[in-house]
Amino acid sequence: MTEITNEVIARSEEIEDGGMEGFTVQGRRIAIYRVDGRLHATDNICTHGHALMTDGYLEGQIIECPLHGGRFDVTTGKGLGAPITCDLACHKVEEADGEIRIILNGDAA
Ligand code: FES
Repeated sequence: MTEITNEVIARSEEIEDGGMEGFTVQGRRIAIYRVDGRLHATDNICTHGHALMTDGYLEGQIIECPLHGGRFDVTTGKGLGAPITCDLACHKVEEADGEIRIILNGDAA
């Protein structure tokens, strides 16, 4: 994994438990989700078409795309069956002192 940025993009209180927010980091659309208190980050654009995952529905650790209902595990980016054929890229997200930082996965498309 190549680290291409590490910047504060949000404050902890901006993403509540069971919630998600979208950000643009170095021109890349990123989604950050909080599941059971822990943060996870993936690309925010569905791998099946042009839909934002943060416009979808988060239930537990599963995000459902608003366009055709494709589902992903936000903790791994793994696609969970048709119509999804490619996983979402995951990024490293860190939280400390009320600040959320993201380290982009530069190897992912
Ligand atoms: Fe997301 Fe089709 S665009 S499932």
